[in-house]
Amino acid sequence: MASSWLATVLLFVSCASISAASHIRRHDHTHAVRALLPAAWHHTDNHPVHALFKRGDMANDGVQYAEVGSPTWSAAFPTNTPDANAMPQAWKDALAAAVKAGKIPNIAPSKDTPNQSPTYNGDPNGLEICSATYKCRIDGDVWDAPDGVFGASFDDGPLPASDKLYPFLQQNNISATHFFIGINIVQNWKVFNYAYDALHGDIAVHTWTHPYMTTLSNEDVVAQLAWTMEVIHNSTGGRVPRFWRPPYGDTDKRVSAIAKEVLGLTTVIWNQDSEDWSMPTGTTPDKIHAQFQGWAAGPKTPGLVILEHELNDATVQVFIDNFPLIKSNGWNVVSIAQMDKLNQPYQNAVGTVGAVTLKNIVPDVAPVVDTTSSGGTDSSSGAPAPSTDAQGQTSTSSSGRSHGGLAWDPAGDVQHGHRDVHLRGMYS
Ligand SMILES: *[C@@H]1O[C@H](CO)[C@@H](O)[C@H](O)[C@H]1NC(C)=O
Ligand SMILES: *[C@@H]1O[C@H](CO)[C@@H](O)[C@H](O)[C@H]1NC(C)=O
Ligand SMILES: [Zn+2]
Repeated sequence: MASSWLATVLLFVSCASISAASHIRRHDHTHAVRALLPAAWHHTDNHPVHALFKRGDMANDGVQYAEVGSPTWSAAFPTNTPDANAMPQAWKDALAAAVKAGKIPNIAPSKDTPNQSPTYNGDPNGLEICSATYKCRIDGDVWDAPDGVFGASFDDGPLPASDKLYPFLQQNNISATHFFIGINIVQNWKVFNYAYDALHGDIAVHTWTHPYMTTLSNEDVVAQLAWTMEVIHNSTGGRVPRFWRPPYGDTDKRVSAIAKEVLGLTTVIWNQDSEDWSMPTGTTPDKIHAQFQGWAAGPKTPGLVILEHELNDATVQVFIDNFPLIKSNGWNVVSIAQMDKLNQPYQNAVGTVGAVTLKNIVPDVAPVVDTTSSGGTDSSSGAPAPSTDAQGQTSTSSSGRSHGGLAWDPAGDVQHGHRDVHLRGMYS
């Protein structure tokens, strides 16, 4: 991968530095007003997601899940790009119902063009498509933190480098949202258990194999998201995550609608990019430090959602080195789920460590600020049991991209790594 990858990185970096100074402004020329956390923060009790990830009973979920890390556990999940044809019928039915109900915009998938942002037949910044790759903000998607708030999140784990990050988070009492890649959970299940059991981090979705989501069919979008939800659900005593972050920040109205309407997921982007992922050939720790100095001492409106990774030792170290700047400048550090003070990282549990409930903890109420959850623990769900014929194995001819040749991809399709870093100026 070396030379062409390096060349693309350099091209990218020079491009990014031109626009760096006007980062926030760049985000503002969009159609939605400043998108803090959505006002309608919870979907309704009869949302289809409840039938897809159904629990047994309230006390202990009533389900015997395979032990995390056991051969039975790992064998039930796709080993590579999930095959949408082989996904559970209930997932297909939920998508079909949402499409039929007119909830999913009927726009064609974007075209995946090497070394360019995905392209469309229409205006990517128009109301119809509204591509986040082109910095168009969809109502309800999250880009900013509330004033004075630093919303902490890390992408791409769980990975070996996470083991360096978690003790630091614990020592500093930092709650963060971890946007996890499904296939990494299967491979690094001990790290996953650390994040969930010991750290009590918020576990969120970063897709199964990290593709450009807008290039996928509706069915493949569901497979990428729902398999990641399934592995989180079955490895946390039945918790259904509430947040996802699109790889490369690549979503549009169709993809965000599928996430929301079929799976109940809220889309989270960011408003500053540390570009930590581009080290060592792209940005440097010094440059990131200078950026953090500016962000930390800069305006508190809006608050900060900085793109950062638990990808390797270098990305973890820059966070450790720069976090004191955030603290000393008086930022209120919370996880993404805590940004509206509800602290509900899961659709069906009370807080980060509270009990799993049968249904949504809070029905659809708007606007929600500073509400304490209660109720909604109705045990009379009549929804049918999910069909979970765990399949989804695919051939080795993966079309998924890796992270610049980094460790998470078992199929070794690292030759695609250079495609991660191109002119779109976003990554996650
Ligand atoms: C996940 O758990 C459910 C029970 O809630 C089970 O039916 C399903 O087969 C499990 N999925 C996998 C992939 O193991
Ligand atoms: C840790 O943070 C929580 C809020 O997330 C706060 O309630 C608690 O007092 C903090 N503990 C320490 C030791 O700072
Ligand atoms: Zn990512």
